Amino acid sequence: MKQGKLIVVEGLDGSGKATQAEQLSTLLQAGGRTVRRISFPNYGSDAANLLDDYLHGGFGTDPDAVNPYAASTFFAIDRFASFHRDWKNDYYNNSIIIADRYTTANAVHQCAKLPQTEWDGFLEWLFNYEYRLLGLPEPDAVIYLRVTPELSQKLLTGRYQGDETKKDIHESDTEYLAKCRVSADYCAEKLGWHTVQCDCGGAMRQIPEIAAELLNIAEAVL
Ligand SMILES: Nc1ncnc2c1ncn2[C@@H]1O[C@H](COP(=O)(O)OP(=O)(O)OP(=O)(O)O)[C@@H](O)[C@H]1O
Ligand SMILES: [Mg+2]
Repeated sequence: MKQGKLIVVEGLDGSGKATQAEQLSTLLQAGGRTVRRISFPNYGSDAANLLDDYLHGGFGTDPDAVNPYAASTFFAIDRFASFHRDWKNDYYNNSIIIADRYTTANAVHQCAKLPQTEWDGFLEWLFNYEYRLLGLPEPDAVIYLRVTPELSQKLLTGRYQGDETKKDIHESDTEYLAKCRVSADYCAEKLGWHTVQCDCGGAMRQIPEIAAELLNIAEAVL
């Protein structure tokens, strides 16, 4: 058995994570690689019940209603269950795992609820908790799809065909989303994530053009 690689695609809501994770998987498979694509939250799993409730207002519609440490544990449980029930064997059998969001999403979304002076302490707690105490694999590369909060909102609204009620409590809170952009930039810099600038002049760059950059980053760690 040979341990595979874990490549994470991260970014604000609606930044193109699912789109680019799929592109990257297809390109790597075309190059003869064995790829497994996973995505978080793992909606539909019993382990995602609490986070689903949180995202849909069960604890209140303000993201601050659940503190960062509590919210992080909801999402961590989902990842723990998914790893053990679903993709552990692939990972230990030399597959390349492409994850649409991971622990890194907690870093972005939960730092945004804290004053910046507490970010470093929170991040240290988060990665120690998931990668060491829970024993989840640490990513070999994190690719950060960087878009403005305005564009992120526009893409989400487009995906929901203009139906604002389909947005969850994170997605519908523009002030919170703006804070997420600041925390995402901070994390990318501090944690050595690979930043891919996905917008240009207020519009998204072409999907294949962005995908080519992701492929280069992935190839470098494989
Ligand atoms: N480069 C691009 N140019 C134009 N539209 C794009 C581009 N990338 C993604 N989209 C579109 O933007 C919307 C959001 O993309 P996608 O679902 O991949 O984002 P996401 O980051 O997975 O979103 P979420 O955070 O909500 O899960 C989709 O309708 C998708 O087709
Ligand atoms: Mg998505």
